[in-house]
Amino acid sequence: TVEKMKGNSTILVTGGSGYVGSHTIVELLKNNYTVIVLDNLVNSYSDGGCKPEALKRVEEITGETVTFYDVDITDRAALDKVFKNHKIDAVMHFAALKAVGESVRIPLKYYQNNVGGSAILLEVMACNGVKNMVFSSSATVYGDPQFLPITESHPTGQGCTNPYGKSKYFVEEIMKDVCTADPDWKVILLRYFNPVGAHESGLIGEDPSGIPNNLMPYIAQVAVGRRDKLQVFGSDYPTPDGTGVRDYIHITDLAIGHLKALERMFSPNFKSWKAYNLGTGHGYSVLDMVKAFSEVADRPINYEMVGRREGDIASCYADASLAKQELNWVATRDIKDMCRDTWNWQKKNPKGFKSS
Ligand code: NAD
Ligand code: WQD
Repeated sequence: TVEKMKGNSTILVTGGSGYVGSHTIVELLKNNYTVIVLDNLVNSYSDGGCKPEALKRVEEITGETVTFYDVDITDRAALDKVFKNHKIDAVMHFAALKAVGESVRIPLKYYQNNVGGSAILLEVMACNGVKNMVFSSSATVYGDPQFLPITESHPTGQGCTNPYGKSKYFVEEIMKDVCTADPDWKVILLRYFNPVGAHESGLIGEDPSGIPNNLMPYIAQVAVGRRDKLQVFGSDYPTPDGTGVRDYIHITDLAIGHLKALERMFSPNFKSWKAYNLGTGHGYSVLDMVKAFSEVADRPINYEMVGRREGDIASCYADASLAKQELNWVATRDIKDMCRDTWNWQKKNPKGFKSS
């Protein structure tokens, strides 16, 4: 049964002290999975103690403990040791660099870390007889969409304009080839749309270092007074109000999607690989988000219209019906919930995890 499987399964989570990983671990622990985390801390805060701050908070939320390894996925020997130390049933692979602009400046770093690191991880998994993988992919693999809403059968790889996006596409292709070569492999590719929000406790959330690249954390930092005003990148897109439209999805819904994917992968009729969109199916503009946040936080959000950001697309939102049919998953949290939980996290942790 599913209940028995949960209680008996050990999941290795790479990049587990990051934003999506930490929220997913909360849901895994709530469902009785045993969780082993590895992260090299390149994008998550630690005070130098035994565990990164995000994982201490996860333990506070759940009352459960996780085993943590400060390991880089490109370090084959260290990875292998983790697999030798534990009987791992499946890997959830979040570890990656994710800053689009940075990936244009230092592409090799992105390919080495995201593509090279994933290849090494797959090899070490195979050597240790672990052939179950849930991978953090992205709607970015669809490029500038040819049609909306985007289904999983939309072409991938064609319009990826930056090395980050290409790295996600390349890893997807590598994983498909691995499944073709060896029928024992099971892989689920989860294509996230735009994850936002925070755990309802306000104990964990998105903690960008430096100036946020993404919309929601930027708005939150303006609201809390850390930044002067939001720059709205482009007001002449072919959208209802001229600003970019995206499918924002609450991080807790996204995390639950990972559990559903795991259950699907462990079901007897699942074979080879399959890709699923994780989105709400609804598109909201930049100004919609500013308005919703301003209402929830009960204060004006200062903003100015500026030119388009290079590489941005006008609109992107999911057809999320395949995940509903096959994973039995739908997003249940709306943009008000997303704004409220982001604001709760931002107020409680004005400087992110460093506030503690
Ligand atoms: P994040 O940066 O918060 O988390 C990633 C974690 O991976 C970090 O803790 C970082 O320290 C770690 N890491 C990076 N390289 C590593 C390496 N070589 N070895 C070990 N650990 C390493 O990012 P996130 O937002 O939680 O994203 C998680 C995954 O989801 C990533 O693969 C990302 O590309 C993907 N994704 C994110 C979004 C988004 O908007 N947040 C959207 C689509 C896909
Ligand atoms: C959303 C909208 C901006 C910041 C990126 C990656 C994508 C995925 C998620 C991982 C756009 C506008 C933003 C700001 C703004 N990551 N904006 N002012 O670009 O949809 O996706 O993160 O896979 O690969 O490309 O998300 O949050 O950066 O932007 O006006 O300061 O907000 O132009 O319309 P994006 P975002």
